[in-house]
Amino acid sequence: MTEQRLRQLARTGQLRWRGSMKDPLFPSDQLLALRPEQVPPIPDWLKLETLPPPRRRRGRPLNPPVYLADTVVRANVLDVLPTMPESCVSAVVCSPPYWGQRVYQDETPVGWGDGTLVPFGREETPESYVAHTLQILRGILRVLRPEGTVWWNIADSYMTRTIARKSSSDRIEHYAGRSRSTWAGNPYKRSSYGHSHLKDKDLSLVPFLIAVGAQKLGFWVRSVIVWSKQMAANDFDLVQPDGNGRTFEDGVLKGTPVNSVSAHVHVPETVTDRPITAHEYILLLTRSERYDYKFERLQSAGSSAAVNVRTVWTFPPTVWRGSHSARFPDELPRRCILLGSDEGGLVFDPFAGEGTTLRMAKKLGRRYFGCDISPTYVREARAALKRVLSEPEQPALPSMLEVGPAAR
Ligand SMILES: C[S@@+](CC[C@H](N)C(=O)[O-])C[C@H]1O[C@@H](n2cnc3c(N)ncnc32)[C@H](O)[C@@H]1O
Repeated sequence: MTEQRLRQLARTGQLRWRGSMKDPLFPSDQLLALRPEQVPPIPDWLKLETLPPPRRRRGRPLNPPVYLADTVVRANVLDVLPTMPESCVSAVVCSPPYWGQRVYQDETPVGWGDGTLVPFGREETPESYVAHTLQILRGILRVLRPEGTVWWNIADSYMTRTIARKSSSDRIEHYAGRSRSTWAGNPYKRSSYGHSHLKDKDLSLVPFLIAVGAQKLGFWVRSVIVWSKQMAANDFDLVQPDGNGRTFEDGVLKGTPVNSVSAHVHVPETVTDRPITAHEYILLLTRSERYDYKFERLQSAGSSAAVNVRTVWTFPPTVWRGSHSARFPDELPRRCILLGSDEGGLVFDPFAGEGTTLRMAKKLGRRYFGCDISPTYVREARAALKRVLSEPEQPALPSMLEVGPAAR
C-alpha cells in the first residue's frame, strides 16, 4: 500500500491506529528512537554571525522602517530590529501570533533565515515556528538593555488536523454547523501528518521549546507565568444547549451562540476527552542575571508594596473590539510594564496589533515603540494612542492582590 493511500485512509477515518505505536504512518522505530532528553537543537543558520538578508515576496516592497521613539510603524519585525540602536529597550512586552491558530488581517509571508517564506505563526511544524521565534529573540537580545526584561505571552497549540481561523466567532460558527468550509478545501488548513514524533492530538509544547531555545541563545528564563483566563469557567453559558440540555456531543458543538456579543468574548474548545484549556503563559526572559524587576512599582496600580506577585495571574480576556481578534487585556501589559521598567524607559512591542502595550506604556509614563505587519492594525493602534490622554483611569483589578512573600 502506498503512503498516499495510507494518508487517504487516515483522512477518511478508515485507518484504525492513527497516532499509536501501530500507526503505519509513524514507524515504531522512529517513536522508540525518541529520547526524553532530546530537545530541538538551535538550527545552524541561527548561529551564523550575520543572518542572510530577509527575502522579499514578489510585489511592492514594504517601506524600510525608521526607528523613532513614541511611534508605531507598519513593518516586519525582522526588518525593524536592525534599525534599532543597541541596548535601547527596557522591556519587551508582546504577544506574537501563536502557532497555527489565527489568520490575521493583511497576513504577509515573511522571508526567514532558514530560507522559508511563510507568515509568522503559519509554519508547517512547531519546530519551524520555534526557530523563527528564536530568530526574532536573537534580534531582541541586541536591542535589550543589559538590565532589560522580555515578557513573551504565548499559548500552546495541538498538533492536530485543523483550520486556522480569523476569529473566535469564526470558530464557533464552524462548530455550530453554520460554516460551509471543509478542511480539504480551506486555504488555511493545517495537517498533522508526517511529523517525526508528534502524533495527531499531541500538545506541541511550543512555549517550553521556546524557553529552552531562549536559554541556548543566552537568555535567562526567570519565570513562566500562567495567565488564568477568568472567563473560561463561564464558557458553556455562551452557547445554548440542544433540546436534551447537551451542548457538546462527540466533541461537536450542538448549540448555538447566545448572541454575537457573547460569541466575541471567549470561545471554549469543543473537546470532551481532555480538560478545556483556560490559560496561556508569559515567559519572563532576561539578558542578565540581575535585571530591573521591582514589584514595588505595582503599588501605583493598587497592590501592596511589601509583597511580590505570584506566578498565576487571573483576569478575563478582552471583549473583541475593532478589527483585531487577539488583543490582550490592558491588565496584562500593565503588570509587565510596571514590574519590568521604570518611568522614561523604552517599552517595545514587536507585534503591536491594536497597540495595547504601547497605550499602557504611554499611560504609565514610559516611552514606547512598536511595529506590526498589518497596515489595518497599525492604523487602529495609532488612533488608540491618540485617545490615551482622554481615556478615564481604570481601577486596578481585584486580582492585582494575588500576592505572596518576596522571592528571589
Ligand atoms: C496576537 S496579535 C498581537 C495583539 C496585540 N498584543 C494587541 O493587544 O492588540 C499578533 C500580531 O502580530 C502581527 N504580526 C504577524 N507577523 C508579524 C511580523 N512578521 N512582524 C510584525 N508583526 C507581525 C499580526 O499582524 C498581529 O497583529
